[in-house]
Amino acid sequence: MLEVEFHAPPHSAQDAERLAAVWYGLRVAARELPGERDRNYHLRDDTGAEYVLKIANAEEQRATLDLQHALLAHLANRVPHLALQRVIPARTGSLIAEVTDDNGATHLVRMLTFVPGTLLAETRPHTPALLHSLGHLLGTIDTALLDFTHPAAHRSLKWDLAAAGWIRNYMHAVTNPTRRALVERLFTLYETEAMPRLPYLRSGVIYNDANDYNILVGGDLFERRVVSVIDWGDALHTRIVNELAIACAYAILDKPDPLAAMAHVVAGYHAALPLDDEELAALFPLICARLCVSVVNSAYQRQAVPANDYLTISERPAWDTLERLAAIHPRLAHYTLRATCSRPAVPHAPAVVHWLEANATAFAPVLAPDPRDAALTVLDLSIASLDLGGNHTFGDLASFTRTVFRQIDEAGAAIGIGRYNEARPIYTADQFRVAGNDMPEWRTIHVGLDLFAPPGTPVYAPLDGIVHSFADNRAPLDYGPTIILQHTAGDDHLTFYTLYGHLSRESLEGLQAGTPVTKGAQIGSIGDPSVNGGWPPHLHLQIITDMLDMQGDFPGVALPCQRDVQLSLSPDPNLLARIPAGRFPAAPSGPATILAIRREYIGPSLSISYRRPLTIVRGWMQHLYDIDGQAYLDAVNNVPHVGHCHPQVVRAGQRQMAVLNTNTRYLHENLTRFAERLCATLPAPLRVCYFVNSGSEATELALRLARVATGRTAMVVVDVGYHGNTTGAVEVSSYKFDGPGGTGPAPHIFKTPMPDLYRGLYRRDDPDAARKYAAHVAAALDQATARGGAAGFICESILSCGGQIVLPDGYLRAAYQHVRAAGGVCIADEVQTGFGRVGSHFWAFETQGVVPDIVTMGKPIGNGHPLGAVVTTPEIARAFNNGMEYFNTFGGNPVSCAIGMAVLDVIEQEGLQQHALITGARLLEGLRALMEHHSLIGDVRGLGLFLGIELVHDHDMRTPAAIEASYIANRMRDRGILLSTDGPDHNVLKIKPPLAFTVADADRLVATMDDVLHEI
Ligand SMILES: Cc1ncc(COP(=O)(O)O)c(C=O)c1O
Repeated sequence: MLEVEFHAPPHSAQDAERLAAVWYGLRVAARELPGERDRNYHLRDDTGAEYVLKIANAEEQRATLDLQHALLAHLANRVPHLALQRVIPARTGSLIAEVTDDNGATHLVRMLTFVPGTLLAETRPHTPALLHSLGHLLGTIDTALLDFTHPAAHRSLKWDLAAAGWIRNYMHAVTNPTRRALVERLFTLYETEAMPRLPYLRSGVIYNDANDYNILVGGDLFERRVVSVIDWGDALHTRIVNELAIACAYAILDKPDPLAAMAHVVAGYHAALPLDDEELAALFPLICARLCVSVVNSAYQRQAVPANDYLTISERPAWDTLERLAAIHPRLAHYTLRATCSRPAVPHAPAVVHWLEANATAFAPVLAPDPRDAALTVLDLSIASLDLGGNHTFGDLASFTRTVFRQIDEAGAAIGIGRYNEARPIYTADQFRVAGNDMPEWRTIHVGLDLFAPPGTPVYAPLDGIVHSFADNRAPLDYGPTIILQHTAGDDHLTFYTLYGHLSRESLEGLQAGTPVTKGAQIGSIGDPSVNGGWPPHLHLQIITDMLDMQGDFPGVALPCQRDVQLSLSPDPNLLARIPAGRFPAAPSGPATILAIRREYIGPSLSISYRRPLTIVRGWMQHLYDIDGQAYLDAVNNVPHVGHCHPQVVRAGQRQMAVLNTNTRYLHENLTRFAERLCATLPAPLRVCYFVNSGSEATELALRLARVATGRTAMVVVDVGYHGNTTGAVEVSSYKFDGPGGTGPAPHIFKTPMPDLYRGLYRRDDPDAARKYAAHVAAALDQATARGGAAGFICESILSCGGQIVLPDGYLRAAYQHVRAAGGVCIADEVQTGFGRVGSHFWAFETQGVVPDIVTMGKPIGNGHPLGAVVTTPEIARAFNNGMEYFNTFGGNPVSCAIGMAVLDVIEQEGLQQHALITGARLLEGLRALMEHHSLIGDVRGLGLFLGIELVHDHDMRTPAAIEASYIANRMRDRGILLSTDGPDHNVLKIKPPLAFTVADADRLVATMDDVLHEI
């Protein structure tokens, strides 16, 4: 069966050019393409038209070339919209030209159209949509081929998965015994599960070679799709499903989660050509078999033709993938593929559920007291749960236990219920983390029912069964003592299982597998935390439709992406426990519902980040968690300055809110202490505070202060500056009034250019740039003279929306001199940059060696609590006290001030300013190093943890690369890291994480960005 590969024909690129001229009348330049049997050349003629010239050995039967040509002609007719190759006849009119080489050997030459695209093997990432499109294209091709026949298609080929049995006799070529055992094991699966089914599976002519070096990808950055396949040399008549198996075998190479990757391909194929149950049952074994054939063939060929790189090119990833496949239970794979094709994952699961429903009244209580009528309370242990504090995120069992029992006590209940199909933050601990294809994933979905009750509470068998297995699963956070019963139900003798986890040790004493257990018999008792994995005492009850050959253990938590399969493997245990449905609260809305209602009730000008919006329901330090408990590293939110939900800040707010929250018309020490502490961070004479509720409100007040103090209204503002969303703030925000929907500057607003040293008027190589930019401020002040002079100049201490622009050294000093000389006041907007973020100083204006007259603060000041402040000089404050009272209902209330002080405490106690300096330097260094490999990065800049990466197409022209910036932000989100884009051209990636961001986080960000940049 196994012939040694042919040597490809001896022709060179010059030969190809000559053949193109002689046979096809084309003047071309030829470049060799890889090929296994043929010699393939890419040809380009003077007009830029491209072709592929294929030179086959004469051993290649002319009939199989006819088959390929007939196939392509059939497809061109049936599915003309597909970008498949077409055959170009020679000048003689023949599709095949017969040529003889110098040694007298005959070769067959053909010319095909060239289909542009990138090889799937060289395309990254393989997104779900891309993999889906692969399956869909093949399904479309196979549908079009259903009525295609050709005598040459009925042939025997070593790559025919319907006849892969030959590799049994060649496995000796795999010399490594571990590897040989691996192949033998997975090939046995083919022999037992696929071979017996093969005669009954649909057959037809298929392409049969969807390996990743034959698949062409097209489309733009965001919409990469499989557009074509090349090399029809392996086409033959066989089982149609083999097509999909081959595609899957290659699509899963290098994927940490091959099951998820193959499911996308299968879904795409199924959408074009629906699969039947038997095909689905054979699919996973066929996928394994294809890789077995590949590695055995490579091993054998390598012995025979050691130098042929092409043959062994996919060997390493194939071995790695075989190892991963071996770790997946074949029935789990089968169930996953069934679920992908909208079938019940476990075929008999619906019958089990039906039987349990039909026998609802027949079961004995699983606990005493009987949960059906006991005083019980259903706990909310979900990701969004307001009953769980932030630290539960890290598997903190002690506080989890306290929370659970406090709630049970408060409800006066005997039993607390932990819900089925609930994503829980407690499972975001490291033990539950697995590598996903894009980002780490956590098995957060609880697929049992928890019944929290005191240790020693007896546990009963709700129905007859036998002891299937038992074990003491002793690892921390594991089940502890566990019993699994096996049940046979109904006339069909359905088998299913029930699992009882977290029992006492005594429960396992004297147990024997196979022992009958009668309904209502006590099988054990609830264990205490010393034996039950450290959990609050409870029974974890789970129904299992297929044990997947496990003993004494079965996963009680699942990955969100496997929800359908896992819920079919483990149906709702309440089918047995029978807690009345009315005792359970309504399920929370999912993302689709939230989005729909948001579209109806929320103003459409509020944008949503990312092409795939995130439903974020929990935050903890530098991480955000979506509704399924998947963690995202937050690299963009500078508002939760000291960390999302920092417990010290939360506690400060909660404690004060429980005692008093009112306005500033009464004396309260929080207001004065906070003001004192804030002023202590600022240089003199900035000594008078006003507290407000947002950055925008701070801008409004700053403008009023400046205008009252000077008696003028005009303002000098920086191009693309942003100071807030209110009328007055928008008026000084060029980012808004010059942006979409804006109406340009008001007559009393005078703009000065962004002091951008990278793409601005004056660049980094100009030693006088700062002074020249400041001269523009002077010019704007002059223009304002016509309108009575400028009240002042407002400038962010680092331009944020402008694209993370660090001001040139000396810029503010020179600008402030001009402003003051013109009688104006200087406003520093520190809403984004203050509170130690820049590392070297507490305030970013300090890096410029200036003291403003007014400082506005927002975002980080309250760590997410709506708080803002304006600090000014006594002189300006006196001028503002012109008889008009300044009243602010919420500004400066005791709760806000308590929170503001807690933020200052944390910054100090945790040394966050210094931390920003160190972590920021690490990040800056890592990002700058990326510039060496990625020409797209034009500039990396920033201070501390306030950084920008400017993407450009060309380092001389500095053409903004906005699409790429958006692509990177979206891909980083897919990879579990949140950042965003900004700048007038939206080509600057913004990084400004909570200061809890660590050096390890910085390294992860840089490494991930490196990967994502390689995708472009
Ligand atoms: C520099 C700057 N100033 C002021 C504001 C307005 O703050 P807020 O959104 O809290 O009103 C923002 C908001 O992004 C800002 O970036």
